[in-house]
Amino acid sequence: MKGFLFLFLAVPAVCSRSHSNWCEPGCECRRDVRLTICSAAFFTELPARVPSNTELLELSHNRIVVIPECSFNKNRKLRVLLLQNNNISVVQDGAFSLLEFLQKLDLSWNLISSLGKGFSLGLAFLRELSLAHNSLSSLDSSSFMHLDNLQKLNLSYNSILTIQVRSFASMSSLRHLHLEGNRLTSLKSGIFSMLRSLELLNLADNFINETQVGIFKPLASVTLLNLANNHLTTVHFKTFLSLHTYSTHILLEGNPWNCDCDLQRVFRKLRSIQRLFLDDYYNLTCAEPEVLRDYRLSLVDTELCIAETVTVLIITVTVVITVLAAMLMGERKRKRKKRRKHWTQQGQLSDESDY
Ligand SMILES: *[C@@H]1O[C@H](CO)[C@@H](O)[C@H](O)[C@H]1NC(C)=O
Ligand SMILES: *[C@@H]1O[C@H](CO)[C@@H](O)[C@H](O)[C@H]1NC(C)=O
Ligand SMILES: *[C@@H]1O[C@H](CO)[C@@H](O)[C@H](O)[C@H]1NC(C)=O
Repeated sequence: MKGFLFLFLAVPAVCSRSHSNWCEPGCECRRDVRLTICSAAFFTELPARVPSNTELLELSHNRIVVIPECSFNKNRKLRVLLLQNNNISVVQDGAFSLLEFLQKLDLSWNLISSLGKGFSLGLAFLRELSLAHNSLSSLDSSSFMHLDNLQKLNLSYNSILTIQVRSFASMSSLRHLHLEGNRLTSLKSGIFSMLRSLELLNLADNFINETQVGIFKPLASVTLLNLANNHLTTVHFKTFLSLHTYSTHILLEGNPWNCDCDLQRVFRKLRSIQRLFLDDYYNLTCAEPEVLRDYRLSLVDTELCIAETVTVLIITVTVVITVLAAMLMGERKRKRKKRRKHWTQQGQLSDESDY
């Protein structure tokens, strides 16, 4: 914590201010519209001479490797910074800390494998961040700490396996979260707990094989929940019932469904809930049991409980027959006893009369 505070306080002092109005060779500087375009200019590091009034800096398709601490100290008015398709593997802590007006940062298609504690320093007004197509393997509770106003976060197509519980804790304004194309297998309960403004959650193309019952409950605004192409074999009814939204579309195709009677019941109940829309229900296919492999769930769903119904019927009939039989036997026994008694009485009578 101490180190972190030191970094925070030290930032403005370390980065010197100066004004520059040159244009780096390879860039096109349009001062009138505050635009500097330096794409595909073979830069291996950030250009030094960018007009200080630049609001949009386009640096895509270069070969930049490092974003050092306190970069852009001459370009503090940046609102949009595009760094996609570079070779960035290192983003030093506090790299963007001077960009207090930055609204959009694109770091997609790079080689970033981890984010330091100070990655989000100074980015309190950032609205859009893309880190898609990098090599992130985990999300830390401190990486996104300062992104209080973020609305769109694109983390698609990384290798994210673990997400710490408080990773998204600062993001109560977040509306779109893209996590498709990662390596998630399960979702820790609580990771979405602060995302009450989230409208779109894309978890497609992961390896998710279970969903905890309360996991989506905090998402009070979600309108699209995409779980397509995961490893789900079944779901709990309550997992989706707990979504207290006005209307939510849920995508579930491309999962290896285990088509049994329980699954049929879950889907029957889900489809009866007015506010939930299972848009791709007719595209869901079974992976199990073996005999139903590749069948559409919607075509077999009325039969899935038949086996169970038959079993129940057989048991019922057996019980009824047994009870009936027992009653009959009892009745017969009673009658026989009565008859025997009758005969014995008659016998006694005739015996007496003999005397
Ligand atoms: C950029 O990355 C590519 C692919 O990983 C590599 O071939 C190339 O040498 C790298 N260039 C620089 C300047 O690091
Ligand atoms: C996320 O980023 C990738 C790479 O830039 C892009 O192709 C994709 O469209 C983005 N997704 C959204 C929803 O913005
Ligand atoms: C169902 O699958 C077909 C063929 O793959 C596709 O064209 C269609 O968009 C899917 N429907 C939904 C609702 O996803």
